[in-house]
Amino acid sequence: MNAASRTKLNQTPEWTALAKHREELGAPQLRELFARQPERGTAYTLRVGDLHLDYSKHLVTDETLRLLRELAAATGVAELRDAMFRGEKINTTEDRAVLHTALRAPRDAVIEVDGENVVPAVHAVLDKMAGFAEKVRSGQWTGHTGKPVKNIVNIGIGGSDLGPAMAYEVLRSFTDRDLTLRFVSNVDGADLHEAVRDLDPAETLFVIASKTFTTIETITNATSARDWLLTELKAGQDAVAKHFVALSTNAEKVEEFGIDTANMFEFWDWVGGRYSYDSAIGLSLMVAIGPDRFREMLDGFHLVDEHFRTAPAEENAPLLLGLLGVWYGNFFDAQSHAVLPYSHYLSKFTAYLQQLDMESNGKSVDREGDRVDWQTGPVVWGTPGTNGQHAYYQLIHQGTKLVPADFIGFAAPVHDLLPGLIAQHDLLMANFFAQTQALAFGKTPEEVRAEGVPEELVPHKTFRGNHPTTTILADKLTPSVLGQLIALYEHKVFVQGAIWNIDSFDQWGVELGKVLAKKIEPLLTGDGGADAGQLDSSTAALVDAYRTLRGR
Ligand code: F6P
Repeated sequence: MNAASRTKLNQTPEWTALAKHREELGAPQLRELFARQPERGTAYTLRVGDLHLDYSKHLVTDETLRLLRELAAATGVAELRDAMFRGEKINTTEDRAVLHTALRAPRDAVIEVDGENVVPAVHAVLDKMAGFAEKVRSGQWTGHTGKPVKNIVNIGIGGSDLGPAMAYEVLRSFTDRDLTLRFVSNVDGADLHEAVRDLDPAETLFVIASKTFTTIETITNATSARDWLLTELKAGQDAVAKHFVALSTNAEKVEEFGIDTANMFEFWDWVGGRYSYDSAIGLSLMVAIGPDRFREMLDGFHLVDEHFRTAPAEENAPLLLGLLGVWYGNFFDAQSHAVLPYSHYLSKFTAYLQQLDMESNGKSVDREGDRVDWQTGPVVWGTPGTNGQHAYYQLIHQGTKLVPADFIGFAAPVHDLLPGLIAQHDLLMANFFAQTQALAFGKTPEEVRAEGVPEELVPHKTFRGNHPTTTILADKLTPSVLGQLIALYEHKVFVQGAIWNIDSFDQWGVELGKVLAKKIEPLLTGDGGADAGQLDSSTAALVDAYRTLRGR
């Protein structure tokens, strides 16, 4: 659908029908929905690859789902999806194709951008990465002094950090435990300090990950890392080639930094930063888990890509998740969405999703540049579930806010744990199932009273329930399952952006802070005679206080 000719979302008949339906539903009760439809727990489920998805504990009826699918049809979700897969330039504000799906396409696929099949180049880079990863893993990649490299420090930020850092944690049990991997992102020097302080520079390789190779945090950290390495090794510039590789789209800047472009792993402008960890940006991860496991992960992504591309609307999992988010955000005024994994290995998963979702759909103008009159992306938050239960779950259970949540769990630990620890998995998963049950069905005052609770405590011990959740259950958290999960969320975010008619693939909102930081830095250091008089009174006073504290 041509965005320019689109009726405003909230003026479409499909939107109006949903608003009316919402009114008619009133305050839908999950207890009632389940009582009316006893088979709901099995009927409202989907299977995608290894993922079992239960959406029965949602405040929806068959009619809600039908109307939501009609909204998707009317807003051209499928057309935009097909345009994305075809390599059309759907990122209109940057005039770029959006083709992270090509990164995981099989070798014989044909996907064209500007008339050129990009798949051979994707596989050429994957092959180059595999060759490099094997060299490091086998000890053949030696540093300046001839010692094999054992430590890999990935320097990047945003999409050039969160993906590989998250996936490294997720797949830790698949990693070569003789290698040490660390991720540095923060421009706070403490991050790099803690990452390198106990490493032997002779055995350390820095992977500089930056799509643009101009991001100030990354280039600053990379420069400091180079200084540290050359000083510690008492070596000249020629040592850089053995200890630095680059992951980037910008060969010129990589060369300028002093890294041999032979040691550069390329990707392309049609890969968005937050969609890039299955490109060259995943090199550190590939070194850690090996090329075969990396391929398994890509195949997991691809499986869900194909599902999203071909499954009918009624069975399309990313479409369903996207629509449920629209339902709560736009028709229940839910402001946030919690993602609560019941796996220690998924400790960074939600942080990764924050960039994926919030940088993609944190927009307030539509594709035509007009301000939208409807809510767009939610605040995404959450940490591993059991820990959250003893922290913020209280608010989800008994607070005043509606917080739709995704619960992600696994039938079995991915690898043998230490003797005695396997049994803990059942306790973990008992919590997993109990929480969505409690959130959905709560505890009525009558049930509380029946336990003999004194009347004055009844309101405090009552759980209203009716908190919607999706449960995602898989057998084990393998590389393929990780790829499936990430692709599921990528496409969910896509669906929502398509419905809200926003460009989910630009990120202009991060620019202003960058520009202002550049102006403020000389005021802090006193360099360049910058004029504090141009600042607002609050920022000027804070800068002044900082300078006083620093004795400047
Ligand atoms: O924060 C803005 C952003 O452009 C992200 O989209 C991106 O992932 C990150 O900065 C890092 O960018 P680069 O890979 O170019 O260093």
